[in-house]
Amino acid sequence: MQRLELRNISKNFGSLQVLSDIDITIEQGEFAAIVGPSGCGKSTALRMFAGLEFPSQGEALAGGKAIQGPSPERMFIFQEHALYPWSTVEDNVGLGLELAGVSKAERIERVNAVLDKVNLAGFNKYYPAQLSGGMKQRAAIARALVMDPDVLLLDEPYGALDALTRLTMQNELLNIWAGSGKTMLLITHDIDEALYLADKIFVMSARPGQVVETIRLDQPRPRNRNSEYFAANRQKIMSLLGLEA
Ligand SMILES: Nc1ncnc2c1ncn2[C@@H]1O[C@H](COP(=O)(O)OP(=O)(O)OP(=O)(O)O)[C@@H](O)[C@H]1O
Ligand SMILES: [Mg+2]
Repeated sequence: MQRLELRNISKNFGSLQVLSDIDITIEQGEFAAIVGPSGCGKSTALRMFAGLEFPSQGEALAGGKAIQGPSPERMFIFQEHALYPWSTVEDNVGLGLELAGVSKAERIERVNAVLDKVNLAGFNKYYPAQLSGGMKQRAAIARALVMDPDVLLLDEPYGALDALTRLTMQNELLNIWAGSGKTMLLITHDIDEALYLADKIFVMSARPGQVVETIRLDQPRPRNRNSEYFAANRQKIMSLLGLEA
């Protein structure tokens, strides 16, 4: 089980300061989201949790230990699904298990279970080019999920999808998370998506990124997107981002 922490993190790429004294804590099992303007360092922060990027100052911790590199306990899902076009859905999804030396029989069982979970049952033999955008993203989530990670790190997973598909995918993501004990960290440009899904939202300012506010949401799910509570928090985030209606 892994509590995730960025403590007093700053990050520079050469002379460009991207993150300035960021603090983020996410408890195991929480659903957290990050919103903020383009270029404020959201992906950089997420990549630190994935062990793909390292702080210039401060500490990135998982379960109290410094993050040294990628781990199958913390799986990263890219905006672009990054499936191998020459491999079928089941081979794409099963690759991590194969590399981990899991037997073929167990692989088939686990791949089927996870395809069922993301509503791709029966699409084992399809190639990515034969799938819709939403289905590709489901396959990418399945590929992460099949490793049974404690943490899912999602970088704008639905950014390329149409509005209607996004709504469906948001409910599917909640179903994957509910009762799983997994920690979710989602980057999104869509304020309503964050409000619909998250227990807490880190609102970041423009580069160099800082966390200007952490908003806690304790509404039960499924949430009503038309509630007063939703509207009040939407307004609050818009004003923090300087997007006053
Ligand atoms: N490996 C790198 N080398 C140099 N600069 C980088 C690198 N990675 C990111 N940057 C810079 O850091 C800044 C923040 O990038 P990042 O991708 O974290 O932003 P973001 O908040 O995810 O933006 P977006 O919402 O557009 O995805 C950008 O100015 C980017 O050019
Ligand atoms: Mg990004």
